[in-house]
Amino acid sequence: MAIRKAKLPPIPKDSKIRQALGLGIGIWDYMEKNQKKFGDTFTLTLPGQGPMVWSADQAVIKDTLRLKEDQYDASLVQLPIDVGEKNVVFQNGKEHQDARKLLIPHFTTERLKNRSQVMHEIVTEHVNTWNPGDEFNIPRLVGDITLDIICFTLFDLRQGGRKDRYKELILGWLIEGTSDKMFTIGSLVGTKKYRQFLNKKYKKQTAQGRIGNGKKSLVPWKLAVDYKVQLANMLREDIQDIRTRNNKDEIHVLSILARTKDVDGNLLDVERVISECVGMMVAGHETSAATAAWFFIWMQKKPDVLRKISDEINNSIAEEGHYNASKVVDLPYITACLNESQRLTPSAVGFIRWLKKDTQLGDYLLPAGSAILPNIYLTQRSKEIYGEDALEYRPERWLEGNKYSPTEFMPFGGGRRACVGMNQGKQQLKLIFSEIARRVEFTSEYQKPGKLPRSRMIGGQTEPENGVIATVKSVLPYEQQELSKSA
Ligand code: HEM
Repeated sequence: MAIRKAKLPPIPKDSKIRQALGLGIGIWDYMEKNQKKFGDTFTLTLPGQGPMVWSADQAVIKDTLRLKEDQYDASLVQLPIDVGEKNVVFQNGKEHQDARKLLIPHFTTERLKNRSQVMHEIVTEHVNTWNPGDEFNIPRLVGDITLDIICFTLFDLRQGGRKDRYKELILGWLIEGTSDKMFTIGSLVGTKKYRQFLNKKYKKQTAQGRIGNGKKSLVPWKLAVDYKVQLANMLREDIQDIRTRNNKDEIHVLSILARTKDVDGNLLDVERVISECVGMMVAGHETSAATAAWFFIWMQKKPDVLRKISDEINNSIAEEGHYNASKVVDLPYITACLNESQRLTPSAVGFIRWLKKDTQLGDYLLPAGSAILPNIYLTQRSKEIYGEDALEYRPERWLEGNKYSPTEFMPFGGGRRACVGMNQGKQQLKLIFSEIARRVEFTSEYQKPGKLPRSRMIGGQTEPENGVIATVKSVLPYEQQELSKSA
């Protein structure tokens, strides 16, 4: 029998730079253009990186989700921020499964239900400060709220100087560490190599006790390293305090991780605890902000949908006699609305697996050293899967008994590496949007008919090119007694 040779699916004739630009600005248009030309599976080749095969072919995606951990190399994921190479995202095989086991217990249904009431209070505190005429950029506004939620989830901090300092450092680090320039340097020199370089700088500065002056310099990575050093210092202090207190009743994520022992009975290495903590900050921040940006635009375009969300929340309040956050996050209509937004406008266009060996996926035998990316965007817009109205925003499709498989709906990735924080991400967005729907009226340019704005990569996520600017028109006061009843 003739031996088949591994081969890349078609590659556009565009130069590598043009292909990189196609991914950076207007990625959705670029995906559609290539699909028209080549079909569901095509290869993009960017400067400084191996070939990337994007596929919206169900057989290819099914096989990708079945890949075993020894078939791909997660350490090659192109994230230029230094979260530590031992972080779950970069691990393979048993180390990866063990790392997931450290994180998954923090996002169980029970933990999330326990957290929902305080998460709602955080959202409410934000909305209570809004006034008619206030102008916001929605992804940044949601980013700010979710930072408060992360400070509560990770550190059990709701107020005070320490919380403010954490927030400031996390935000500074995320902005500097995931800026366009960091992604560009990463792709030019190799992202893994660049991360290792940043980690060396971080370790050296830490060992020398140099926390940095917080000022910009000509060195493009300087501020990112300074922020990481300072953030890690705070985490180190807290880990030490937690270990001294050894209070088994504490259930915030940092406390549990700091008290976790490995199979030999030793406490986890401090740098490992820091790494998983900062990793969750990176994984949850821009993803939530970008998802919220598109969800907000759909709500502006679909006032009838927004009204139905508001009715659903108000009915729940009437039934329960108060706002019950753990009930609100399970309400079917708002859940369908978020699904529909993530279907048509997902924050991640694809997720990646770098293949170690020649690998058969569907009808394709892909060469070692190439990457396969299930194409979330194109798959979730497919008429074959979602029907003739696939391009319409219609939340009802989720309530009509349709079941979409993990290869048909995958805004949180899939298989052994699917998003660990999926339920936390969905919960915080539903709590934010339910509060907006029932209390706040916004005006924005998206209320006028017209196409969606062009997409642009921000911090590795797909966001509207020029942000989402909206002005508060009115805010209903919060009924205080509801909050105290539900506390
Ligand atoms: C709407 C918000 C979010 C979206 C859209 C999102 C999306 C994703 C996607 C697409 C992946 C890659 C999965 C894959 O390769 O198959 C991922 C991985 C991950 N996410 Fe999320 N995410 C969100 C929120 C969060 C939050 C809030 C956290 C934690 C607090 C989190 C933690 C993680 C982690 C740790 C991974 C790596 C999992 C692994 O490699 O095993 N995410 N996420």
